[in-house]
Amino acid sequence: MDPIINPYTPGVGSRPPELAGRDEQITDFTTLLKRLSLGKPQKSLIVTGLRGVGKTVLLNTFNDIAEANSFKTAKTEITHETNFRHLMARLFRRTLLALSPMERLKDQAKKALSVLKAFAIKTPGGMELSLDAEAISGLADSGNLEEDLTDLLVTAGEAAKAHNSGIILLIDEVQFLEKPDFEALISALHQVTQKNLPLSLVGAGLPQIPTLAGEAKSYAERLFEYPVIGKLNKPAAKRALLIPAKKEGVDFEDRAIEAILAFTHGYPYFLQEYGQHVWNIASDDIIRYEDVMQAEKQVVATLDENFFRVRIGRSTKTEVLYMSAMASLGEGPYKSQAIAEKLERNMQSLSPTRSSLIGKGLIYSPEYGYTDFTVPKYDDYMRRNHPIEHLADTDED
Ligand SMILES: Nc1ncnc2c1ncn2[C@@H]1O[C@H](COP(=O)(O)OP(=O)(O)O)[C@@H](O)[C@H]1O
Ligand SMILES: [Mg+2]
Repeated sequence: MDPIINPYTPGVGSRPPELAGRDEQITDFTTLLKRLSLGKPQKSLIVTGLRGVGKTVLLNTFNDIAEANSFKTAKTEITHETNFRHLMARLFRRTLLALSPMERLKDQAKKALSVLKAFAIKTPGGMELSLDAEAISGLADSGNLEEDLTDLLVTAGEAAKAHNSGIILLIDEVQFLEKPDFEALISALHQVTQKNLPLSLVGAGLPQIPTLAGEAKSYAERLFEYPVIGKLNKPAAKRALLIPAKKEGVDFEDRAIEAILAFTHGYPYFLQEYGQHVWNIASDDIIRYEDVMQAEKQVVATLDENFFRVRIGRSTKTEVLYMSAMASLGEGPYKSQAIAEKLERNMQSLSPTRSSLIGKGLIYSPEYGYTDFTVPKYDDYMRRNHPIEHLADTDED
């Protein structure tokens, strides 16, 4: 069928034509906004899940909902290169200036801009923010990130309140925050929450975030709700495939749908990829079982290329070997002990490799003593492309 009107959206953060199966999270977020507006305490949300389940898409949706409800938003993604203090300064510049035109800014907002200016100056290397404000003295200028960020968030929250608005910070890939940065952020949010100010953080990232947050600040669990998202259940996965097609007057054979569901297990990214390929292959406005079978090879090739292979790109040989050993054990989660046995090593000597893979976001610990891939079906990919038999005798790097 005509690829030009192909409705499917495989890709990082690509907005799907039908956001299936996320009503509960959207309701939770709407509740958070309403309670913030009323000055009532409410836990912030950090959405966690594996790669490709739709965390970024959900965060973008939250962004739109917040804006539609007169909140000011700033969205960002953390990487290993992020300079956190810089980032916070830029985000708050954007949200504070969005509160109102300069000439109608209330005193609280003018104060927040002065605090922001002071906060920016104390950024390592100094940061000159283009702002029509004088740096305040005695707030956000101690050089201690935790204290300064608290001053910034509290005054920003007061400014938003004065303007009958609120601020939502949306942070993707939260697991890549450095520990001191995460500590400072949690601590600052804690103060904001205690003052019932309309400012909140909504995050997304990999499943290890609750553990990381708990390690950063023991009271983090009182501040955050961690909704977990994953594969879509069967009715939702069907909707994700059918509704976009129906809008173009195209239908699926039941058998075709069932085959795609069996292949994708309902993982959103896989559904979009399969939908896209099978659409292009189908010749009339019914997508048939045969089309699905014919598309499979292309889907596998595209997933390998666009989803699986890129993840392994920056891994060392030792790390690849570790993941091959995991995959050789079948489907996860894996006992870390069993991985070590497979590699004929002791667990302690493997711990730097394991930590580094966790740091790169390739694996995580679903519970104590266990390890699993952060990418769905990664075990399959590894067995197909990096079987342990081929790797076991490579030299260590
Ligand atoms: N609820 C959903 N229904 C259908 N497709 C979705 C849904 N959420 C995400 N997708 C699709 O899944 C893919 C991955 O989404 P993304 O937000 O980048 O995942 P993540 O951030 O979890 O890695 C995209 O192609 C997107 O269009
Ligand atoms: Mg994402």
